[in-house]
Amino acid sequence: MADVTFNGLTFEPYITKEEILQQIKRVAGEIKRDLAGETNPLFLCVLTGAFMFAADLYRECDIYDSEIAFIRFKSYEGMQSSGTIREVMGLDEDIKDRTVIIIEDIVDTGVTADRLRKRLEEMGPKQVKMATLLFKPDSIKQGKTPEYVCFSIPSRFILGYGLDLDGLARNLPEIYVLKEQQ
Ligand code: IMP
Ligand code: MG
Repeated sequence: MADVTFNGLTFEPYITKEEILQQIKRVAGEIKRDLAGETNPLFLCVLTGAFMFAADLYRECDIYDSEIAFIRFKSYEGMQSSGTIREVMGLDEDIKDRTVIIIEDIVDTGVTADRLRKRLEEMGPKQVKMATLLFKPDSIKQGKTPEYVCFSIPSRFILGYGLDLDGLARNLPEIYVLKEQQ
Protein backbone atom coordinates (compact mmCIF):
# COMPACT_ATOMS: atom_id res chain seq x y z
CA MET A 1 0.00 0.00 0.00
CA ALA A 2 1.41 3.39 -1.03
CA ASP A 3 0.64 6.94 0.10
CA VAL A 4 -2.21 8.74 -1.71
CA THR A 5 -2.73 12.48 -2.26
CA PHE A 6 -6.05 14.33 -2.66
CA ASN A 7 -6.64 18.08 -2.64
CA GLY A 8 -2.95 18.56 -1.79
CA LEU A 9 -3.12 16.38 1.33
CA THR A 10 -1.13 13.17 1.67
CA PHE A 11 -2.51 10.11 3.43
CA GLU A 12 -0.62 7.00 4.49
CA PRO A 13 -1.88 3.41 4.77
CA TYR A 14 -3.33 2.73 8.21
CA ILE A 15 -5.58 -0.35 8.31
CA THR A 16 -5.53 -3.14 5.72
CA LYS A 17 -8.51 -4.89 4.11
CA GLU A 18 -7.66 -8.05 6.04
CA GLU A 19 -7.61 -6.24 9.39
CA ILE A 20 -10.93 -4.54 8.57
CA LEU A 21 -12.60 -7.85 7.74
CA GLN A 22 -11.16 -9.51 10.82
CA GLN A 23 -12.65 -6.86 13.12
CA ILE A 24 -15.96 -6.91 11.25
CA LYS A 25 -16.19 -10.65 11.83
CA ARG A 26 -15.48 -10.13 15.55
CA VAL A 27 -18.14 -7.40 15.86
CA ALA A 28 -20.66 -9.43 13.81
CA GLY A 29 -20.12 -12.29 16.27
CA GLU A 30 -20.87 -9.98 19.20
CA ILE A 31 -24.02 -8.64 17.50
CA LYS A 32 -25.27 -12.13 16.66
CA ARG A 33 -24.72 -13.26 20.24
CA ASP A 34 -26.56 -10.20 21.64
CA LEU A 35 -29.43 -10.42 19.13
CA ALA A 36 -30.10 -14.14 19.57
CA GLY A 37 -33.85 -14.58 20.01
CA GLU A 38 -34.74 -11.07 18.75
CA THR A 39 -37.62 -10.76 16.31
CA ASN A 40 -36.98 -8.73 13.14
CA PRO A 41 -34.24 -6.32 14.25
CA LEU A 42 -33.55 -3.28 12.06
CA PHE A 43 -30.04 -2.36 10.95
CA LEU A 44 -29.88 1.34 10.19
CA CYS A 45 -26.99 2.49 8.01
CA VAL A 46 -26.03 6.16 8.31
CA LEU A 47 -25.20 7.35 4.81
CA THR A 48 -22.98 8.18 3.16
CA GLY A 49 -19.84 7.12 4.98
CA ALA A 50 -21.11 3.84 6.46
CA PHE A 51 -22.30 2.25 3.22
CA MET A 52 -19.26 0.03 2.67
CA PHE A 53 -18.97 -1.02 6.31
CA ALA A 54 -22.74 -1.67 6.45
CA ALA A 55 -22.56 -3.98 3.40
CA ASP A 56 -19.78 -6.05 4.94
CA LEU A 57 -21.13 -6.02 8.50
CA TYR A 58 -24.71 -6.84 7.53
CA ARG A 59 -23.55 -9.75 5.36
CA GLU A 60 -21.37 -11.10 8.18
CA CYS A 61 -24.23 -10.86 10.67
CA ASP A 62 -26.28 -13.36 8.63
CA ILE A 63 -29.43 -12.82 10.70
CA TYR A 64 -32.02 -13.25 7.97
CA ASP A 65 -35.07 -12.28 10.05
CA SER A 66 -33.86 -8.66 9.92
CA GLU A 67 -34.10 -5.57 7.74
CA ILE A 68 -31.68 -2.87 6.66
CA ALA A 69 -32.64 0.77 6.12
CA PHE A 70 -30.71 3.93 5.30
CA ILE A 71 -30.75 7.39 6.80
CA ARG A 72 -28.61 10.29 5.73
CA PHE A 73 -26.95 12.94 7.85
CA LYS A 74 -24.18 15.34 7.03
CA SER A 75 -22.06 17.10 9.64
CA TYR A 76 -18.57 17.55 8.22
CA GLU A 77 -17.14 20.22 5.97
CA GLY A 78 -13.60 19.34 4.83
CA MET A 79 -11.81 18.03 7.90
CA GLN A 80 -13.79 19.77 10.63
CA SER A 81 -17.02 18.66 12.25
CA SER A 82 -19.35 21.56 11.39
CA GLY A 83 -21.43 21.01 14.53
CA THR A 84 -24.63 21.51 12.57
CA ILE A 85 -26.42 18.43 11.42
CA ARG A 86 -28.60 18.41 8.38
CA GLU A 87 -30.95 15.51 7.95
CA VAL A 88 -31.24 14.80 4.28
CA MET A 89 -33.18 11.56 4.13
CA GLY A 90 -35.73 10.28 6.61
CA LEU A 91 -36.65 6.96 8.09
CA ASP A 92 -39.85 5.28 6.85
CA GLU A 93 -39.65 2.01 8.77
CA ASP A 94 -41.69 1.53 11.93
CA ILE A 95 -39.23 0.90 14.77
CA LYS A 96 -41.76 0.61 17.60
CA ASP A 97 -40.76 -2.25 19.96
CA ARG A 98 -37.93 -3.30 17.66
CA THR A 99 -34.22 -3.58 18.29
CA VAL A 100 -32.33 -1.07 16.16
CA ILE A 101 -28.62 -1.38 15.37
CA ILE A 102 -27.27 1.90 14.01
CA ILE A 103 -24.34 1.37 11.64
CA GLU A 104 -21.93 4.34 11.62
CA ASP A 105 -18.62 4.87 9.84
CA ILE A 106 -17.00 6.88 12.61
CA VAL A 107 -17.89 8.43 15.95
CA ASP A 108 -15.77 11.55 16.33
CA THR A 109 -17.37 14.30 18.48
CA GLY A 110 -20.36 12.00 18.98
CA VAL A 111 -22.82 14.76 18.02
CA THR A 112 -24.27 12.94 14.98
CA ALA A 113 -24.61 9.64 16.84
CA ASP A 114 -26.23 11.27 19.87
CA ARG A 115 -28.79 13.20 17.78
CA LEU A 116 -29.72 10.08 15.88
CA ARG A 117 -30.06 7.95 19.00
CA LYS A 118 -32.31 10.56 20.65
CA ARG A 119 -34.47 10.85 17.56
CA LEU A 120 -34.88 7.08 17.40
CA GLU A 121 -35.59 6.76 21.13
CA GLU A 122 -38.60 9.07 20.64
CA MET A 123 -40.04 6.49 18.24
CA GLY A 124 -40.46 3.82 20.92
CA PRO A 125 -37.94 1.11 19.94
CA LYS A 126 -37.23 -1.83 22.22
CA GLN A 127 -33.56 -0.83 22.29
CA VAL A 128 -31.06 1.12 20.21
CA LYS A 129 -27.45 0.01 19.85
CA MET A 130 -24.65 1.36 17.71
CA ALA A 131 -21.98 -0.39 15.66
CA THR A 132 -19.17 1.82 14.37
CA LEU A 133 -16.19 1.05 12.18
CA LEU A 134 -14.05 3.69 13.90
CA PHE A 135 -14.24 5.43 17.25
CA LYS A 136 -12.11 8.39 18.37
CA PRO A 137 -12.37 8.17 22.20
CA ASP A 138 -10.33 11.37 22.72
CA SER A 139 -12.72 13.45 20.57
CA ILE A 140 -16.10 12.44 21.99
CA LYS A 141 -17.97 15.40 23.50
CA GLN A 142 -21.46 14.02 23.80
CA GLY A 143 -23.42 10.77 23.86
CA LYS A 144 -22.72 7.17 24.74
CA THR A 145 -19.71 5.08 23.77
CA PRO A 146 -20.85 2.86 20.85
CA GLU A 147 -21.69 -0.69 21.92
CA TYR A 148 -19.79 -2.26 19.01
CA VAL A 149 -16.47 -0.80 17.83
CA CYS A 150 -14.17 -2.27 15.18
CA PHE A 151 -11.26 0.10 15.84
CA SER A 152 -10.61 2.71 18.56
CA ILE A 153 -8.18 5.21 17.07
CA PRO A 154 -6.41 8.47 17.98
CA SER A 155 -8.00 11.75 16.87
CA ARG A 156 -6.50 11.84 13.38
CA PHE A 157 -8.27 12.37 10.06
CA ILE A 158 -9.16 9.12 8.30
CA LEU A 159 -9.90 8.42 4.65
CA GLY A 160 -11.16 5.44 2.63
CA TYR A 161 -13.46 2.43 3.03
CA GLY A 162 -16.45 4.79 2.87
CA LEU A 163 -14.89 7.81 4.58
CA ASP A 164 -14.31 10.86 2.41
CA LEU A 165 -12.40 14.07 1.98
CA ASP A 166 -15.01 16.48 0.59
CA GLY A 167 -16.75 13.58 -1.15
CA LEU A 168 -13.59 12.06 -2.60
CA ALA A 169 -11.89 8.68 -2.20
CA ARG A 170 -14.68 6.77 -0.46
CA ASN A 171 -13.86 3.80 -2.70
CA LEU A 172 -10.34 3.28 -1.36
CA PRO A 173 -10.54 -0.36 -0.20
CA GLU A 174 -8.27 0.22 2.80
CA ILE A 175 -8.23 2.84 5.55
CA TYR A 176 -5.72 5.70 5.29
CA VAL A 177 -4.72 8.40 7.78
CA LEU A 178 -3.62 11.97 7.12
CA LYS A 179 0.15 12.17 7.31
CA GLU A 180 1.49 14.34 10.10
CA GLN A 181 4.15 16.98 9.28
CA GLN A 182 2.89 17.89 5.80
P1 IMP B 1 -19.35 13.54 14.71
O1 IMP B 1 -20.76 14.04 14.72
O2 IMP B 1 -18.36 14.62 15.03
O3 IMP B 1 -19.15 12.31 15.59
O4 IMP B 1 -18.97 13.16 13.23
C1 IMP B 1 -19.53 12.15 12.57
C2 IMP B 1 -19.32 12.24 11.09
O5 IMP B 1 -18.21 13.08 10.73
C3 IMP B 1 -18.99 10.88 10.55
O6 IMP B 1 -20.14 10.14 10.25
C4 IMP B 1 -18.14 11.22 9.33
O7 IMP B 1 -18.98 11.44 8.20
C5 IMP B 1 -17.44 12.51 9.69
N1 IMP B 1 -16.06 12.26 10.16
C6 IMP B 1 -15.60 12.27 11.44
N2 IMP B 1 -14.29 12.00 11.52
C7 IMP B 1 -13.89 11.77 10.24
C8 IMP B 1 -12.61 11.40 9.65
O8 IMP B 1 -11.58 11.21 10.32
N3 IMP B 1 -12.62 11.25 8.30
C9 IMP B 1 -13.72 11.44 7.52
N4 IMP B 1 -14.93 11.78 8.02
C10 IMP B 1 -15.01 11.95 9.38
MG1 MG C 1 -18.31 12.45 5.84
